[in-house]
Amino acid sequence: PDSELDASYKVALELAHSAGQVIKEAFQRKDKGLSTKSTSADLVTVTDRKVEDMAFTLLREKFPHHSFIGEETAAAGVRSELTDNPTWMIDPIDGTTNFVHGFPFVCISIALCVKKQVEIGIIHNPILNETYTARRGQGAYLNGERIQTGSQDDLSKSLVLTEFGAHREEAFLSFKFKNMRSVINKAHGIRCTGSAALALCQLAKGGADAYFEFGIHCWDIAAGDLIAREAGAFTMDTQGGPVDLMSRRIIGAATEKLARELSSTIDHTELERD
Ligand code: IPD
Repeated sequence: PDSELDASYKVALELAHSAGQVIKEAFQRKDKGLSTKSTSADLVTVTDRKVEDMAFTLLREKFPHHSFIGEETAAAGVRSELTDNPTWMIDPIDGTTNFVHGFPFVCISIALCVKKQVEIGIIHNPILNETYTARRGQGAYLNGERIQTGSQDDLSKSLVLTEFGAHREEAFLSFKFKNMRSVINKAHGIRCTGSAALALCQLAKGGADAYFEFGIHCWDIAAGDLIAREAGAFTMDTQGGPVDLMSRRIIGAATEKLARELSSTIDHTELERD
């Protein structure tokens, strides 16, 4: 029922702000309590774990029958399973590498999926004081003001966002560089924000025309995908068809035409699902 979504939205927004306080305080400290996960570039800090624990403890208490998927819970070996049950997808710090280095593109990303559809998306950057919010069918907002994507439909006039990610296998890096080369041959430029969630927010507010990435996880993009779509962006699987949150790949663009042009410009690969 809607009243439960209303309550969920309220709790999630409060959580984003209280978690943001914790992230901001830790951002200002020199010692980040850093360790690595799958590769020497796959970073986690004590704050990632602290914020995820804080989020799940609160949400479990408020919504005991909901399900939970979180980056650090998954890293600890818990399989991410998306069912029809209301499911929270949380990245406690998206842009952990930025967080570690003091680069201010850092956020908490919170999404609530119901019947596998994202109903609520909240992305809060406590360093730059930016809170992006969306509910399905109700538009997208930055600090309470409605946001809208641009209208670019030509890759040769576009600024495109993508990411290197944390993988360091030679074949995957070559694949990524080849795609970047194909895009830069046509586009005005490529930018990497270091946060998939904030990349989708830039697309949402018209700061960039398109975004694509292979290798992301559901918690990186669930909230941002809704925010971008509610701001008027067109998002899809990299080869067309609806975004599959668990497929570890996505394209978003200001217009469908641009998304399809970008899709036909790059190579595609299948990754192990979330
Ligand atoms: C990472 C960021 C980055 C993306 C990686 C993600 P994290 O998330 O979103 O932009 O390229 O694939 O893992 O580790 O900072 O939460």
